[in-house]
Amino acid sequence: MEKGNQLYEGKAKKVYETDDPTLVIVSYKDDATAFDGTKKGTICGKGIVNNRMSNHLMQFLEKKGIPTHFVEELSDTDTLVKRVDIVPLEVIVRNVSAGSFAKRYGVEEGIEFATPTFEFSYKNDDLHDPLLNTSHALALGLATPEEVEKIRAMALKVNDELKAYFAGLGVRLVDFKLEFGRTTEGELVLADEISPDTCRFWDIETNEKLDKDRFRRDLGNVEDAYEEMMRRVFGKEA
Ligand code: TMP
Ligand code: ASP
Repeated sequence: MEKGNQLYEGKAKKVYETDDPTLVIVSYKDDATAFDGTKKGTICGKGIVNNRMSNHLMQFLEKKGIPTHFVEELSDTDTLVKRVDIVPLEVIVRNVSAGSFAKRYGVEEGIEFATPTFEFSYKNDDLHDPLLNTSHALALGLATPEEVEKIRAMALKVNDELKAYFAGLGVRLVDFKLEFGRTTEGELVLADEISPDTCRFWDIETNEKLDKDRFRRDLGNVEDAYEEMMRRVFGKEA
């Protein structure tokens, strides 16, 4: 499948048309941003890590019964996916306090929750992705009540599966962000990516951060963290 016209360029990926109107090609970049795009940088090799890791996890989740946009990995950085309309909600699940949760509620990072938390933010950089509840999402017409319920059930199932998967790799799945989309056939599927850009991964023994927080917080060894996550997922072949 060949790349056609560029449809869209996001902060971390480009999207191209194909000769099939139901499919597009996503191409992962090494560009990194934080704080609604105000902090910019490059993480060498990130495009490869995020593309390969995301595809691996999407295929894993498909086997567990979660429908995803994944179709075929075309190269180290490019993947054929179903064309979707993205639901403009960032769907965040947390197992451990960190990031905006710790800040908003005035608690330290690292508190393990008895039950995972589930939240939405409105995917809108100009408004700084504000937190919103289900009634707000419905009032704004961002999704239907049925979609909200499906999204919640799928996100919590993704958490159960990924938490166990990463624990087996010596990684604590602290929190993550998912996006969902509607295919041209109207099916709600998991879309976007699952990667160190969109998850917090802490080493299970040392709590060392192995994700994009190393970039957001200027902790150094950013590329090393992405490479380490690649090794955990793919073993020595990575
Ligand atoms: P937060 O603690 O900053 O709200 O982030 C929660 C999770 O969502 C964390 O794993 C990082 C991820 N995330 C994104 O994928 N994109 C974003 O724009 C933000 C702010 C967070
Ligand atoms: N989406 C954020 C940004 O705007 C990145 C992040 O913090 O993950 O740039």
